[in-house]
Order: sequence, then structure tokens, then C-alpha cells
Amino acid sequence: MIKNDLYLRALKGEIVERPPVWMMRQAGRFLPEFRELRGQYDFFTRCQTPELAAEITMMPIRRYPLDAAILFSDILVIPQAMGMDFEMREGAGPWLETPIRTLEQVQNIEVPNVDDTLGYVFDAIELTLIKLNNDIPLIGFAGSPWTILCYCVEGQGSKTFDKAKTFCFQNPEAAHLLLQKITDTTIAYLKRKVEKGVSAVQVFDSWGGMLSPQDYQEFSWHYINQIVEALSEISPVVVFGKGCWFALEEMTLSKASALGVDWTITPENARRLTGGNITLQGNFDPSRLLSPPETIKKMVTEMINRFGKDKYIANLGHGILPNIPLENAEAFIRAVVDWREN
Ligand code: CP3
Repeated sequence: MIKNDLYLRALKGEIVERPPVWMMRQAGRFLPEFRELRGQYDFFTRCQTPELAAEITMMPIRRYPLDAAILFSDILVIPQAMGMDFEMREGAGPWLETPIRTLEQVQNIEVPNVDDTLGYVFDAIELTLIKLNNDIPLIGFAGSPWTILCYCVEGQGSKTFDKAKTFCFQNPEAAHLLLQKITDTTIAYLKRKVEKGVSAVQVFDSWGGMLSPQDYQEFSWHYINQIVEALSEISPVVVFGKGCWFALEEMTLSKASALGVDWTITPENARRLTGGNITLQGNFDPSRLLSPPETIKKMVTEMINRFGKDKYIANLGHGILPNIPLENAEAFIRAVVDWREN
């Protein structure tokens, strides 16, 4: 049904002519046409207006020969649907006036009906699918429960997420209750996204690497795996854990179709830890897109050769940076599209 299904074939582990390519956080930030919209609508208005979200999703697709689109949205729409009033502050990022710090606050949070609270996302999917015209697959996403807890407890971004950790370590009962409520909401949300027509879902565990391997099991993986179990029945699931190389062996045993890795691990080690059988996605250092286009091309070719063309999705090791020149992003994508077996 989808004309270019390279991404979906790579997720299934099929033999492909070249790896598919997309870039994490491709819909936004570094694109001048995205920044232009900033003056007109605030961030969450862009997320909540299906026509805008669909149009932003298409921005990188119109510019580059990408093999997948990712729906423009944010991981924080989940805590918003659960009643937490996140704003996006210019220059400062996410902001929650009253962060979650007590068991009582968590007990008062309800698992919402996703159709009532997140209908705008499902409408955005519908509009985006029309615009995509079955050319390439659309990826849906959510944050991991741990990564979302980080913002709910901290109330904003952080270098260490020490308040989130304090909450988990001093008040594990409250932490687990919150993580479970986020998990239940996320499962309902992602299932609905799949029903609406996204071809795969990705879970972003951006702050999983802040935890020790043991704490990662308890506070992050335990919940991600519930999402993987529930969603894998109806869709391929990709788990991206930034800094989570220590959990790759465990992740490989799950029903995830693919694992995202960041640039701090070599392709050889990532293959070794995952047994060589699961599809991997990554792992170009996002700041390496600041190199000259010729260097980017060489490094991308080497990255593909080291991961191998099959069971591989070329991507960055984390989201694209806002200061990446358009032609450098293009060099990255072209290097994958033009890659040939030699
Ligand atoms: O390709 C895409 O951009 C798709 C949509 C997308 C956004 N956020 C839009 C966005 C995705 C997949 C995300 C995920 C997300 N959001 C994560 C996980 C991935 C990651 O990068 O680690 C996290 C941690 C967030 C929370 C968040 N949203 C932060 C910390 C910030 C501020 C810093 C930043 O990224 O600029 C945002 C804002 C945000 N989300 C922007 C975009 C395009 C920038 C807002 C703007 O430029 O006005």
C-alpha cells in the first residue's frame, strides 16, 4: 500500500537495497519554514491545530528524500492530557507551574480518555496521511514514562533531573503510581494512533541514560516494556533510549522491532550486545552534522558499512540540532539514499 516501504521492510528485518533514512526531530527546529511559524502560533497551538501539525510534519518531506515522516507533536501532550498544564517557554523549554512532588498529587491524577483529550493528534494523523498520499510511512511516537516523569516532577528541563530522582528514591510508591498512570495513558494513546494509520511507533526514552542499570530496570524499562508488549500486537515498535546501551541485551529480548542507539556506542558493540538479529537505528552524532558536507558523506558511508545495510535504519543518535545548515542535513540524507553496496 505504501509506495516506499523501505523503513517498514527494515523494521521486519528484510533484505533491502539500501537502508532507509529519517532524522529524529526532523519536523521542526532547524527548518526556516518552521521557525517562521513560531512568530504566529505558540508551540502547543501548533501541536493542537491539526492543519498546522500536518503541515509541519510535511516540511522536511517536501525538502528531502526521506523514507519516513514523523508526526509533529510533543511527548508532553500526554501529561497535558492527564491534567498537567505544560507550557513551552521561549528559550527555556517546557514549563509546569506546579510540579508533581507528592503522593496525593499523583493520586489525584486521572488516566484520561484519549479520544476526549488527544483527539487533535488523531485528527492531525488523518490530515497528514492525506498529504503523504501513501508515499512513505508515518511514524507515531510517545515519550517513555520515565522521561515524562522527569518533566512532571522537575517542572522543566534539567541537566541532572535530580528532583525526579529524589522523588523516585524517596517516594517510590508515588513514583510507581505516576509511572503506571503515564504508561496506561500512553498505551491507549499509541493504540489509537495505530488505529488512525501510523505505520510504526517509537518510544523516546531521552533520559533513560540518567539512571543506573538497576534503577533503569525499575523506573524505566519495566514501563517501556509494558508499552512494547501492548503495541507489538498491532504495530512495529521502536525503542530509542539515549545513553541506554547498558540495557540493549535486555531490550533485545523484548518484542520491540528495532532499537535506537546514540553515538556513544560503536556499531560493532551495538550489534554485539543485540546479538546481530534485531534492527538497529542510529547513530550519527548530531553535532557531526556541523562538519562540511563532504565529511558528512564519508562518515555516513562508513556508518552504514559498519552497521551493515540490512536490519538497519540510518538516523542520528539523537534529535537534529537547531543550528544545522540545510545543506548539511541534505548531505546526511543523500549519503544514505546514494549508498551502494561495493
Ligand atoms: O521531528 C520532530 O520534531 C517531531 C516532533 C517532536 C517534537 N518533540 C517537537 C518539538 C518530537 C519527536 C519531540 C520529542 C520530544 N519532546 C522529546 C524526546 C526526543 C528528544 O529530543 O529527546 C523530548 C524530551 C521533548 C520535550 C521537549 N520539547 C523539550 C525539552 C523541548 C525544548 C527543547 C527543544 O527541543 O527545542 C521541546 C520543544 C519542541 N518539541 C520543539 C519541537 C520542534 C522546539 C520548539 C520550538 O522550536 O518552538
